[in-house]
Amino acid sequence: MLRHIKVSSKKEMGVTAAGFYKRQLEAKPDSLFAFATGSTPLPLYDELAAMYAAGKIDFSKVKTVNLDEYVGLPVTDENSYRYFMDKNLFSRVNIRRENTFLPDGTASDPGKACALYSAKLEKLGRRDIQLLGIGNNGHIGFNEPADALSAHCFAVTLTESTIKANSRFFASEDDVPKQAMTMGMAEIFDSELILLLCSGTAKHDVLNQAIYGPITTKNPASLIQLHPNVVVIDATGNDN
Ligand code: GLP
Repeated sequence: MLRHIKVSSKKEMGVTAAGFYKRQLEAKPDSLFAFATGSTPLPLYDELAAMYAAGKIDFSKVKTVNLDEYVGLPVTDENSYRYFMDKNLFSRVNIRRENTFLPDGTASDPGKACALYSAKLEKLGRRDIQLLGIGNNGHIGFNEPADALSAHCFAVTLTESTIKANSRFFASEDDVPKQAMTMGMAEIFDSELILLLCSGTAKHDVLNQAIYGPITTKNPASLIQLHPNVVVIDATGNDN
């Protein structure tokens, strides 16, 4: 079942999403979360940090994995997703750093690093909440539109449109890594709940195609229609 919750601002999207984490942690303090990067989840991370500061939420028993990581960026690079997570969430709550896992973007053999990450995901078990954003082209994690998708973590060559879209975080388009490692579709599906956040009018159409259009590998986000428990928090009605 897919629940589509429309909200009127990014802030409300963050507050609504944070409510799912608060309830989940009350029911199960040692929850396992899969987090996402990008600008979309930032209001959620701000809200989780605020809830923690107010003593309303406790991450001491939580474990986390992340959807993806660029190939070739050291963890000290501010564009690496490890750096992003440390800065925007992990350093702001009482999560133990050793309980947080991302693919190893610095590994000399990305294929091997992906296999290791898949083994880690398998060992940690089913995620309680899988957080997702959506790319302009419908990608989730870095599962790009293609003739076929991958079940497990793999090293992907990014599409030109993704490199262009993500270049806004880098000094130039040439600095954007051409490859990334991403959780595969089976791994994204291995969660009790998929929580998809989407904001900004520019993503209104791709989101609606994903949740009401045909299920197709050309829009990887559309596959979430096959998951039994999806909540979409939609702030695409305006740019607030
Ligand atoms: C990146 C990430 C995705 C994210 C997407 C959208 O490519 N790999 O997980 O959903 O960007 O980013 P934003 O939220 O900044 O639009």
